[in-house]
Amino acid sequence: MSYKHQVAEMISAALSKQGVDTLGAEQVRNMLETPPNPAMGDIAFPCFQLAKALRKAPPVIAAELAPLISGTPVREVQAAGPYVNIFLDQQSVAAEVVGTILSAGAAYGSRDIGKGRKVPIDLSSPNIAKPFSMGHLRSTVIGNAIANIMEKHGYQPVRINHLGDWGTQFGKLIVAYRLWGDEAKVKAEPIKELLSLYVRFHEEAENDPSLEDQGREWFKKLEDGDAEALHLWQWFRDESLKEFMKIYDLMNVSFDSTHGEAFYNDKMDRVVAMLEEKGLLTESDGAMVVTLDEYDMPPSLIKKSDGATLYATRDLAAALYRHETYDFAKALYVVGNEQRLHFQQLYKVLEKMGFEWAKEMHHIPFGMMLKDGKKMSTRKGKVVLLEEVLSQAIEDVKKVIEEKNPGLANKEEVARQVGVGAVIFHDLKNYRLNDINFSWEEMLTFEGETGPYVQYTHARACSLLRKGGYVPSAAVSLPQDALDSKEAWAVVTLLNAFPEVIDRAANGFDPSQIGKYVIDLAQAFNKFYANVRILAEEDAVKNARLQLVAAVVTVLKEGLRILGLAAPEEM
Ligand code: ARG
Repeated sequence: MSYKHQVAEMISAALSKQGVDTLGAEQVRNMLETPPNPAMGDIAFPCFQLAKALRKAPPVIAAELAPLISGTPVREVQAAGPYVNIFLDQQSVAAEVVGTILSAGAAYGSRDIGKGRKVPIDLSSPNIAKPFSMGHLRSTVIGNAIANIMEKHGYQPVRINHLGDWGTQFGKLIVAYRLWGDEAKVKAEPIKELLSLYVRFHEEAENDPSLEDQGREWFKKLEDGDAEALHLWQWFRDESLKEFMKIYDLMNVSFDSTHGEAFYNDKMDRVVAMLEEKGLLTESDGAMVVTLDEYDMPPSLIKKSDGATLYATRDLAAALYRHETYDFAKALYVVGNEQRLHFQQLYKVLEKMGFEWAKEMHHIPFGMMLKDGKKMSTRKGKVVLLEEVLSQAIEDVKKVIEEKNPGLANKEEVARQVGVGAVIFHDLKNYRLNDINFSWEEMLTFEGETGPYVQYTHARACSLLRKGGYVPSAAVSLPQDALDSKEAWAVVTLLNAFPEVIDRAANGFDPSQIGKYVIDLAQAFNKFYANVRILAEEDAVKNARLQLVAAVVTVLKEGLRILGLAAPEEM
């Protein structure tokens, strides 16, 4: 149990002696504050809220409460105005926290809230034959981190790449390929080539409207299972996916399912029939819709007048499929903020169908990636290929390594870990709904709030352990005053906070909690390292301090892992 919980329980017990039974340890825990300066104690409990129940002034309550609080790890208690200030026995708290971390290892901060239940997470989901956009990058890194966070809470994440692999654009692409395509070119650079065919289709269609008709015809053929159409579609999909896989491999992200939109082709009739049966379908201009007037939302379009099904219909079928396949505890969709209405409509339609579980579905929106204040998009033919961003980052890191540590073993792999880590961290340190400004400088510096900074700090701590001949052990015996500096205490309080940070990240589907936390921990550690002697001390003190360092290594590495970053031991 963390020391804050221990203290909260003491206060809660003291309060019930005073006749206040309404404040459990959990509530008290949430009321605890940190005094503005360490001379006033390590923890403060404000008494304002109790004034009404006890019909006494807060300072009186504090004065009466203070003497009732005692026991490990509390060293001293003072009433100061309306506050009860608590001084901890920092040595025993430090030993407790470090011991807990060293024996738990990577499992520190894990909880079994999910009891192994599945949580499908819809993430990444790029569109076939189109470039992988910055939005898809954001979805990939945010979704992957959230999957790790849910796992930390005892859920079993199911990473689903809901590929955009169906729709009228494939009819156009088939027409363009049959007219102007070149097999070798598509094989060599699938995304680039398919995109330029698509662009050319639109250019030529401006003068030759019959192309649009042909595009519709070929999409119809595709939907009817025409062999040539299907063959081309399958080939475009395979080639595109191969190219996307390069990005996923670089980023070390993998999926449990790549069922895209096409997977639901034969699963939509059933949904439409269910809607029909429940009397939810209405006709509107020849199309079939579910009205959502009662929620002040526009109707959800289920079937176009020509019978074609839509994005929303596929998502309805996908939701049913996921519920039946995974019996999920929650289902998450990590998709840009611009699709907010789409998901609200989806949930409402499911609710109208009587599915209680729709309440467990969450859209996890995120903002845009901006460059010089403008959206980084894939304009006509002009592509910011994500793969280029990643390889550029890796190249830049390689240069730094060549300069600073040319003798490093496995340079290539470390450069990949740090370069890709920089791109991921640049995203995840920000709250997901905020727009992000893409900046090489900000992303890649080894100082400041970056991935490379945290990774570098981790590597420094590892090297300290190597130099000190640290032998891993969970037994913590701390000689008096080994960890009595304010720098050590700052590290200990942060280490102790990690499980709560995981909780906040999980409750808010918010990886930035962990991003900010690892920066704080890295900074606190670097201060400790700069101000406290470690290797030059006699053995007992040295070993105690190395144990704190080992705890920092454990938590930094686990924090980085959750975010999707590797933690090289040397760089
Ligand atoms: N492919 C879509 C896009 O790029 C995202 C799909 C998101 N997932 C979903 N189940 N609708 O906009």
